[in-house]
Amino acid sequence: MKDVLILGIESSCDETACAVVRNGRDILSDVISSQADFHEQFGGVVPEMASRMHVDSIYPTIKKSLSDAGVTLEDIDAVSVTYGPGLVGALLVGVSAAKGICEVTGLPLVGVHHLKGHIAANYLCFPELEPPFLCLCVSGGNTMIVYVKDYTDMEILGRTRDDAAGEAIDKIARVVGLGYPGGPKMDKAGQGGDVEAYSFSKSHMTDTLDFSFSGLKTSALNTINGLKQKGTELNLRDFAASYQQCIADVLLKNTLKAHEMTGINKICLAGGVSANSFLRKTFDKSASENGLRLYYPSLKLCTDNGAMIASAGYFEYISGRRDGLDLNANPSLSL
Ligand code: KG4
Repeated sequence: MKDVLILGIESSCDETACAVVRNGRDILSDVISSQADFHEQFGGVVPEMASRMHVDSIYPTIKKSLSDAGVTLEDIDAVSVTYGPGLVGALLVGVSAAKGICEVTGLPLVGVHHLKGHIAANYLCFPELEPPFLCLCVSGGNTMIVYVKDYTDMEILGRTRDDAAGEAIDKIARVVGLGYPGGPKMDKAGQGGDVEAYSFSKSHMTDTLDFSFSGLKTSALNTINGLKQKGTELNLRDFAASYQQCIADVLLKNTLKAHEMTGINKICLAGGVSANSFLRKTFDKSASENGLRLYYPSLKLCTDNGAMIASAGYFEYISGRRDGLDLNANPSLSL
């Protein structure tokens, strides 16, 4: 069968990324231009600036991804692009660039849901991985357990009712002075810390696979403020370790519940927070205790990248999906 090459474009937040992927599994190039250093001074992503910076870097990123892969647009079979969810101005840059390329070349356009991209990052790391499986998607804006029935057919079994896990980590990282991006800094700060040194109240929801992290976050804030009032210094290493362990335990509990409910024992992690070492260790341990087959992407492919969009785009493309040049950014696109 002829190889299918997909050009994948991602610009939903603060990374301009573009990649060429063969048959949904082999990365021929993967170029990322990150704005994280710029946004660090503001303690978070400034949407207007993110859009402007995407405009500056989108075409150089696309050009480099083609040259790194040793191909031209004539070798490409389709262009896939993230069209939601994300920051609308940021998404529009990638969507407009993809539409421009498709208009000029006549290539098919395939819109991709950002989270389907994160899930597909696992296909790039594990050539043998096939649906069905359960996927815990944990990123800055989303926390959900997805039943991946097929490459393009998915059902959400549980989701956060308030904060996303990444948001809960990022916000507390800011409060303890670690700055932006909080996730990796909290992870580093907690290394070697005592995961039982601090305890936090977790929400207890029965008969649902939904999550809630706002109570946990408030409990962490109360701990920080309580210590401040008493003039006691916070042990940052132990605090970061305990807090992240608590979040990992909450995420594991519902994932195991979903496994018990569905009988599916193949579990994937996806999204930026799947880079978290506390989460990975917690799931590794549980997988070996419960006989689960666990998959998570390489660190580089956990956070936003173009290869995952090209991979998800490939599976949409071979299932027949095509979008028109009226494709628009949808900041609150549902799965
Ligand atoms: O999936 P992603 O790159 O972007 C979204 O689509 O949201 O996820 C970003 C999230 C942020 O909350 C970031 O702090 C978090 O992933 N993150 C981590 C780590 N690396 C990135 N969180 C915890 N530990 C990490 N090592």
